Amino acid sequence: MRLGKMAAAVATFACLVVLSSLQAYEAAEVPGSQVNGTVHGTVYLTPKLPVPHEYKQITWWFDKSLKILTKKWDQPASYRNGLFHNKLRYHENHTLEINQLQKDGSGTFQMDVEDNQSKTTSERIRLDVYEPVPKPSVNVTIRASKDGWCNVTLTCIVDVTQVSYRWYKNEKDLVGKINSTLDVQLTSESEASYKCIVSNPVSEETGFIYYRSPCTWNEKNSAVPLSLARKTADSILAFGFLLLVHNWV
Ligand SMILES: *[C@@H]1O[C@H](CO)[C@@H](O)[C@H](O)[C@H]1NC(C)=O
Ligand SMILES: *[C@@H]1O[C@H](CO)[C@@H](O)[C@H](O)[C@H]1NC(C)=O
Ligand SMILES: *[C@@H]1O[C@H](CO)[C@@H](O)[C@H](O)[C@H]1NC(C)=O
Ligand SMILES: *[C@@H]1O[C@H](CO)[C@@H](O)[C@H](O)[C@H]1NC(C)=O
Ligand SMILES: *[C@@H]1O[C@H](CO)[C@@H](O)[C@H](O)[C@H]1NC(C)=O
Ligand SMILES: *[C@@H]1O[C@H](CO)[C@@H](O)[C@H](O)[C@H]1NC(C)=O
Repeated sequence: MRLGKMAAAVATFACLVVLSSLQAYEAAEVPGSQVNGTVHGTVYLTPKLPVPHEYKQITWWFDKSLKILTKKWDQPASYRNGLFHNKLRYHENHTLEINQLQKDGSGTFQMDVEDNQSKTTSERIRLDVYEPVPKPSVNVTIRASKDGWCNVTLTCIVDVTQVSYRWYKNEKDLVGKINSTLDVQLTSESEASYKCIVSNPVSEETGFIYYRSPCTWNEKNSAVPLSLARKTADSILAFGFLLLVHNWV
């Protein structure tokens, strides 16, 4: 009994050691020179530069010329009005927290540290702010539909720039198809599913389109393969619930 508890304690301790060394490893790996953020989200800019325990002043700049904060060694940080007004929080560990990100917050941040010998060292961190990707729709343009062929161009449409595309047919990656458009020629298959995944560094979303012979396309799947049956059942449940709520109100 006691032995069991001791073994458990040892195991827990071993786990903690492994966990904390993993954490240390992760912290060392964090790339400090570039950070991606989401519109309305928060980022932490963490300089790699070791800041001396005592220093004269720390200054943060945005895009070289806009001073956004200064911090004297024995005083709290003082924030400047402007682009980042009320959005900054300077932490004791020299991490700069930026909240309520906007696209115009993309740019280069620079931290200048002036030490007690009036020597200044600097570090730059680039911030790129992206909008989350909205759900894409898939458009079909029929190029030819005769002699048993269905030749179409699928277009993955999403109202945001700076995104990449990936295409799948029947859940299989169409490696190398990275355009917003996909040319498709079908002849013998009776049905097929296509999806496009649109992504940027902060998010991704998927659009679907389903084919049925002869040359019929639908954004809803009417075939309901097994893998989708469950999802559909869930939506029916959800829909039923909505109806219920609707009837109550
Ligand atoms: C930010 O996104 C770019 C472009 O996809 C990528 O190369 C970079 O590694 C990302 N940065 C971080 C810190 O994840
Ligand atoms: C460094 O500079 C700060 C602010 O000027 C001062 O308060 C502090 O005593 C100085 N420390 C040393 C070791 O000179
Ligand atoms: C510094 O402190 C902030 C707030 O406590 C935390 O979110 C951040 O991860 C810390 N940075 C480092 C490098 O420890
Ligand atoms: C979708 O495709 C049709 C032609 O098939 C085209 O007329 C329409 O403009 C397209 N819609 C979008 C949003 O591209
Ligand atoms: C459809 O595409 C295939 C393959 O490129 C081609 O052989 C066929 O002639 C096309 N069909 C029509 C009706 O254009
Ligand atoms: C990507 O699409 C553009 C037109 O939207 C076309 O000109 C180009 O050839 C396509 N690239 C590939 C690799 O299919």
